[in-house]
Amino acid sequence: MAESLRINGERLLARIEELASIGAIDGGGSCRLALTDEDRAGRDLVVTWMKDLGLDVSIDSIGNVVAVRAGKNDGPATMTGSHIDTVKTGGRYDGNLGVLAGLEIIESLSENNIQTQHPVAVAFFTDEEGARFAPDMLGSLVYVGGMTLEEALDIKGVDGSKVGDELDRIGYRGTSPCPGPSPRAFVELHIEQGPVLEVEGITIGAVTGVQGISWTELTVTGESNHAGTTPMALRHDSGFAAASISTYVRELSIEMGGSQVATVGRLELNPNLVNVVAGSAILTVDLRNTVEERLLEAENKLADFLSELGSSEGLKIEKRQLARFEPVEFNQEVVSTVENVASRMGHSVMQLPSGAGHDAQMMARVCPTGMVFVPSHKGISHNPQEHTDPEDLIAGCNVLFQTILELDTTDFGGAESK
Ligand code: GLV
Ligand code: MN
Ligand code: MN
Repeated sequence: MAESLRINGERLLARIEELASIGAIDGGGSCRLALTDEDRAGRDLVVTWMKDLGLDVSIDSIGNVVAVRAGKNDGPATMTGSHIDTVKTGGRYDGNLGVLAGLEIIESLSENNIQTQHPVAVAFFTDEEGARFAPDMLGSLVYVGGMTLEEALDIKGVDGSKVGDELDRIGYRGTSPCPGPSPRAFVELHIEQGPVLEVEGITIGAVTGVQGISWTELTVTGESNHAGTTPMALRHDSGFAAASISTYVRELSIEMGGSQVATVGRLELNPNLVNVVAGSAILTVDLRNTVEERLLEAENKLADFLSELGSSEGLKIEKRQLARFEPVEFNQEVVSTVENVASRMGHSVMQLPSGAGHDAQMMARVCPTGMVFVPSHKGISHNPQEHTDPEDLIAGCNVLFQTILELDTTDFGGAESK
């Protein structure tokens, strides 16, 4: 009986549309940066849906929301979920799919009067994107005890606001404690956000892990001067430094090969005028690699480059680490469960690592964890044009459904309480 259960695809798609309409932007995406008014409106909608399903909803002191459906036994839940905050130019599926799929699965369990052995929980975590408040995966990091609550509440955003103040302002500083209770297992459905599944013509990804992430903010201080009168040899040009750093990390990644990627995604020049040599620059460097040693190598090479650049150009270059997470390997049993469930359901499936950061990489610190990926059209994400075919969204949700049912009866041999 349980093996033939399927979710209601139309209902899943309708919820995705309704959530996407909050903070809707041109091109079909959404802008709900963490802890903004739009994020609050999105949260209110999802919490209403959770309560309508009769779930036990709790909000913790960093604003993570967890909704639980009781099982035959008390104790830790089998948890799913993701995030509903977006980058400024967000699509409609990044994060939202995983949360709304969790809700849909719970509604399907109730409709079919299924009593699971263990409670089933669906969560959405605060500030997964890190676009307003770094680091990314902030809520899940605090949930698993990877950062103290005090430190997290004190983080300043790109607009100068503080996490704690913004949580209070939108009414989402809850009372449940952080760190939160460890689930017995965690599995997250997400769009791939890369091109692999589509290129390979495969519907389901059984995610093996997440690559390491290193985010640094660089502040370059040179000398602002006249663009016409300052001889080239006498310049201390922060604009040139920013461009050199951007070029360097790109060339470094290509030279290193493998999974190494690098991005300068934010750059501010000051005073940012046509006829003035830039006096200062603030830019961010995002480095990622699936292998920790390689990520360290990239960080070290960048550090050497920055000190040479600083001395040859007469510039001060200050570094501030915004995020640093080592690569994570998911639990073999959960990865195999996703793979086996998908093939039993008749889907093409492959194992692959994740290029993007996810709340699952934090949950992996406290319980057996895995992820289900579905294809992203042309691999486009963090862009309003992000698209996944409806049948793939539904297939992913059904694979998540069956995976949760299977994990409900999996004995992890104590690994769940690590
Ligand atoms: C988070 O979504 C990231 O991978 O940047
Ligand atoms: Mn995401
Ligand atoms: Mn994202």
